[in-house]
Amino acid sequence: MWKPPQRIRHPIPEVRWPTAREAAAAMLFSPLRHGPLALAERTWVPAMVPWRATGDGFVTPEILAWYERFARGRPGALVVEATGIRDVPSGPLLRIGHDRFVPGLRELAATVRRASGGRTRLLIQIIDFLAIRRRPAPEKYFGRYLEITDRHRAALGVDDESEVRRLLAGLTPEALESVLDERELEALRFGARERVTDMEKPHIRELPRVLPGLFAAAAGRAREAGFDGVELHFAHAYTMASFLSALNTRADGYGGSREGRVRLLREVLRAVRGRVGSDFAVGCRYLAEECIAGGSGVEDGEYFGVELARAGMDFLSLSRGGKFEDARQPRVGRAAYPYTGPSGYECMPTAVSDARGPFGRNVEPTARIRAAVRAAGLATPVVVAGGIHGFDQAEELLRAGKADIVAAARQSLADPDWFAKMRRGRGAEIRRCVYTNYCEGLDQSHKQVTCQLWDREALDEPGVQLSTDGRRRLVAPDWDES
Ligand SMILES: Cc1cc2nc3c(=O)[nH]c(=O)nc-3n(C[C@H](O)[C@H](O)[C@H](O)COP(=O)(O)O)c2cc1C
Ligand code: SF4
Repeated sequence: MWKPPQRIRHPIPEVRWPTAREAAAAMLFSPLRHGPLALAERTWVPAMVPWRATGDGFVTPEILAWYERFARGRPGALVVEATGIRDVPSGPLLRIGHDRFVPGLRELAATVRRASGGRTRLLIQIIDFLAIRRRPAPEKYFGRYLEITDRHRAALGVDDESEVRRLLAGLTPEALESVLDERELEALRFGARERVTDMEKPHIRELPRVLPGLFAAAAGRAREAGFDGVELHFAHAYTMASFLSALNTRADGYGGSREGRVRLLREVLRAVRGRVGSDFAVGCRYLAEECIAGGSGVEDGEYFGVELARAGMDFLSLSRGGKFEDARQPRVGRAAYPYTGPSGYECMPTAVSDARGPFGRNVEPTARIRAAVRAAGLATPVVVAGGIHGFDQAEELLRAGKADIVAAARQSLADPDWFAKMRRGRGAEIRRCVYTNYCEGLDQSHKQVTCQLWDREALDEPGVQLSTDGRRRLVAPDWDES
């Protein structure tokens, strides 16, 4: 993973944990109600893909165990990983693009309800993504994938296609730069990647016609399966975030100005609401800042926040970065991964950082967006995430009105009982995340996600589920509450 050039190692801050009495009076553990979003407390476990679905997108016993383990800590809300809305193969990622996925998802919802004693509200993050290919071996790229055009023929002064391919394969990287265009070079060096601006492709042109229906059908299935709501995935490197991006230059009314860029999101929300009604929570996750050159900044984030809140979102969850544009070049045979560049760092910052450090980098931008939403007279709850690791930090930002709900991904993975431990005044027992991103490295290589702090512990415990290589346990050991 990319690290800031300063490479300052930040210790995990010393923190103070609340007594049970203090926790009971804390804002963090106070309820929140906004329309259909009714939380027992303001703690939130955001979406984390654990790479545990079947190859064709169904819920597995390992998925059930993953969510069951988080639910036992009884957070206010738990968001199920990014789940695909299309009925197309997408590897071991959960899918909700067909009714056949509903029974498994129903079992998942029932499992979380049972494990949390009905206390945790369960949302599912629903996502669309565009095609991305693996980085090809150059001989394959020039031998098969590259579409030979007159431009290549003219540049090389030969007509015969196989001769053009042969000559291209022999060019130096510098020489290739004057023969291939930018997208062809990208396809060679990173793997071809579709963009929402590829208007010459009919399926991309038609996205605004197709996506509202797909999101609405997926949300309908989530409701049928017993979820409490959906989180529309408008963040990071995926289709909807690309519509919001300042790099979206579509000229069909769905790009360019901020108004154009947010238009499809409003249309998706309208379709979803039409399908699930007003008593089912519908919110979204989007980026406070894209953190890439030429990308949307916090002023855009403020505008989108107001528009999305006004359009009727039940919550706004703010993330940051996580884009393809600055991702690292993958190895041959692997696809680019959006969390490997500076924007990826902003999304999941590690302890090796710059002077600002990894903790709460998204708090101030989120506070600005919330302030803009409130200034527009809207009460939509705002969720903040990114390096939230301690009680005082969470409580202070809530009390200062910087956010309404506090999300913690990695700290909750490190210790799924950490909210329960704080509530009980037993914060000293919390296993604290060390922000090294071992978990994120597993995610990047599509391996079952676990945490380095517990995945080698008590592997011979009866009934313990192990990773496919048999070396790691898949969920955190139980907390001895006695
Ligand atoms: C293993 C892993 C998987 C993730 N998967 C998702 C995802 O499916 N959707 C999403 O919006 N964010 C995803 N994230 C980002 C987290 O939700 C969160 O925004 C990020 O980790 C920063 O919060 P933290 O500092 O509390 O970990 C993932 C993070 C990790 C570590
Ligand atoms: S592996 Fe565990 S300790 Fe390391 S960053 Fe992930 S959650 Fe934190």
